[in-house]
Amino acid sequence: MALKTRFTELVGVEHPVVQGGMQWVGRAELVAAVANAGGLGFITALTQPTPQALREEIERCRSLTTKPFGVNLTILPAINPPPYAEYRQAIIDSGVKIVETAGNKPQEHVDEFKKHGIVVVHKCTSVRHALSAERMGVDAISIDGFECAGHPGEDDVPGLILIPAAADKVKIPMIASGGFGDGRGLAAALALGAEGINMGTRFMCTKESPIHQAIKEQIVANDERSTDLIFRTMHNTSRVAKNAISQQVVALEKEGAKFEDVRELVAGVRGRSVYEVGDNDAGIWSAGQIQGLIHDIPSCQELVGRIVREAEEIIQGRLARFVTSRAAVVA
Ligand SMILES: Cc1cc2nc3c(=O)[nH]c(=O)nc-3n(C[C@H](O)[C@H](O)[C@H](O)COP(=O)(O)O)c2cc1C
Repeated sequence: MALKTRFTELVGVEHPVVQGGMQWVGRAELVAAVANAGGLGFITALTQPTPQALREEIERCRSLTTKPFGVNLTILPAINPPPYAEYRQAIIDSGVKIVETAGNKPQEHVDEFKKHGIVVVHKCTSVRHALSAERMGVDAISIDGFECAGHPGEDDVPGLILIPAAADKVKIPMIASGGFGDGRGLAAALALGAEGINMGTRFMCTKESPIHQAIKEQIVANDERSTDLIFRTMHNTSRVAKNAISQQVVALEKEGAKFEDVRELVAGVRGRSVYEVGDNDAGIWSAGQIQGLIHDIPSCQELVGRIVREAEEIIQGRLARFVTSRAAVVA
């Protein structure tokens, strides 16, 4: 048994389960473990300090798996933007065949990737952005609902509405993202019109995820209420794990704080040290509401296998049992 979809066919993987880009987390060991489990993992380009370091990380991943994997390029507005074109060139030169783009105005990057025959999966948080990416020529959409870790956008539409709303209009293959972590979620995503799932938080909490064990245990201890939305007042919302720092930022924003007032609290180096040192309150770190359904720290092989098995059982067993002929109901 296998769940074969237009998405698995497009990217050439066994299972419709994807590990999206994750700053500081999407490194070779995790991406290769997802690939070896039959899913699709993305190395996070900007986690690497330079385009050359990205080239080396891609090679490191190749030494760990022979299966397909991709690279995420996240394009966010910044005062001092990273050299996006150089990172993009490193991806192209390395012969990577699949890219996940995310963020604003990806046209120039999509054009270059397509010129080199690369499959582009664009991640976005609204139907209108999905349609505009489709017009831009991307090959697939990853639609990210309000439940997700990281940037859910400003529309606040959860997956239960966003996924079918997007499926009604998007013609290219689409995977569902945000709030997925088990086979029930995968079966639901397929029912809603998606052709696979993308997960961040759930993959953070696996054996191969390169973050401190204490943070994995914190995710297991957390529940579905353990997130905060920061930067709401700045129209750049981010869903993060609820901790002493996120609570402080939310309180300061309520008092009218500007970015400058919270800059030190939200600094990237502090967030990074959470994963390195294992101190939950060292800074801001991304995590989604799916934390409420995460109860263990499996290997990627165990996790992907379990999700697909559960989804198959739900589709063939539980759901199929609801379908009955009218005669049987009347009788
Ligand atoms: C720690 C962490 C870091 C993330 N960093 C990025 C990033 O750099 N670029 C990006 O496109 N998405 C990023 N994401 C979002 C994920 O790729 C994915 O869309 C999201 O986690 C899905 O929601 P989920 O956490 O409920 O599975 C990040 C998520 C997490 C948990």
